[in-house]
Amino acid sequence: MARPKVLATRPLFPAAQKILDGSCDVDYWTRPESISKEELLRRVADKEGLVCLLNDKVNEELLAAAPKLRIVANVAVGYDNIAVADCTKRGVAATNTPGVLDETTADFAWTLLMAVARRLGEGEALARSGKWTGWDLDQLVGADVWGKTLGLVGFGRIGRAVARRAYGFQMKVVYHDAARVPLDVERGFHAEYRELSALLAEADFVSLHVPLLPETRGLFNAKTFSQMKPTSFLINTARGPVVDEAALVQALENKKIAGAALDVYEKEPLINPGLKRPNVVLAPHIASASLETRTKMACMAAENVVALFKGRRPPNILNPEVLKTS
Ligand SMILES: NC(=O)c1ccc[n+]([C@@H]2O[C@H](COP(=O)([O-])OP(=O)(O)OC[C@H]3O[C@@H](n4cnc5c(N)ncnc54)[C@H](O)[C@@H]3O)[C@@H](O)[C@H]2O)c1
Repeated sequence: MARPKVLATRPLFPAAQKILDGSCDVDYWTRPESISKEELLRRVADKEGLVCLLNDKVNEELLAAAPKLRIVANVAVGYDNIAVADCTKRGVAATNTPGVLDETTADFAWTLLMAVARRLGEGEALARSGKWTGWDLDQLVGADVWGKTLGLVGFGRIGRAVARRAYGFQMKVVYHDAARVPLDVERGFHAEYRELSALLAEADFVSLHVPLLPETRGLFNAKTFSQMKPTSFLINTARGPVVDEAALVQALENKKIAGAALDVYEKEPLINPGLKRPNVVLAPHIASASLETRTKMACMAAENVVALFKGRRPPNILNPEVLKTS
């Protein structure tokens, strides 16, 4: 029997390739640059499976160009790049990679939080510059992390993993989420629920962990920044468009907040030049980027594809209704 044809927009990792190559004929995009939209549409035309990254747009145009497509497997937990409803209409399964990146992403939210609080970027630049003249009493004094209040916006898998780490820093943890969790779960994480405005008024560090949805796009804007403490910091490892970047630049310029640490941006890979200031730590969307975790993500995507072609339910299917009709 013919093996299903699959397009992978990256070579993936050897362990994931082994899974995919075991049952599919895979066309890997191996050039150093990301696949262009035109090339993606051309190559996907005869494919039954697509393994894609979060910067590949899977929309009606792509689906129309790929009439044989049966599954789109994102190598990411966030899937705002995939029009899932359009996939469902065409009977195409969509999958993501939840759970395997929680701890690694939480580690990185903390990396950013501590870097911005303790002015690591500025310190590193000074240490490398040859201009450091020695220890001084008020040199690069930052803000304490321990004992402060951490505000989590989004208390799902990653938000909770971030909360767990705060205990060791003797921090108070408050969270806001569209759905309040049961009291015993709150107690387990030493976290208290707050309305968003109350959280913003109280938190010294506000860390974002919501998906990008119509309701969360621009959730952080001029109004929300004006509700934050002037000594507080924003940390964003969620998705860039959750923050109105122009409003963030204004808030930093007008000292409405003390600083920001960002992994994600509104128009990646472009970074608003107004964010390139000493009290902002900038990372190039690497929160889940440990070799172990990225390998697990790629393997999970590969397993979702193989499951569908073997007639099994893909473990991380986002639109299981397509399975009933197929
Ligand atoms: N920077 C990175 O590389 C990176 C890595 C992993 C995940 N992410 C992002 O982090 C997001 C969260 O991942 P997760 O696995 O924790 O997801 P999750 O689904 O477990 O948690 C998301 C939480 O946000 C809450 N939420 C949804 N809409 C909300 C709203 N309007 N207001 C308040 N809360 C709301 C949900 O109720 C849920 O508890 C992903 O969707 C992804 O976009 C980024």
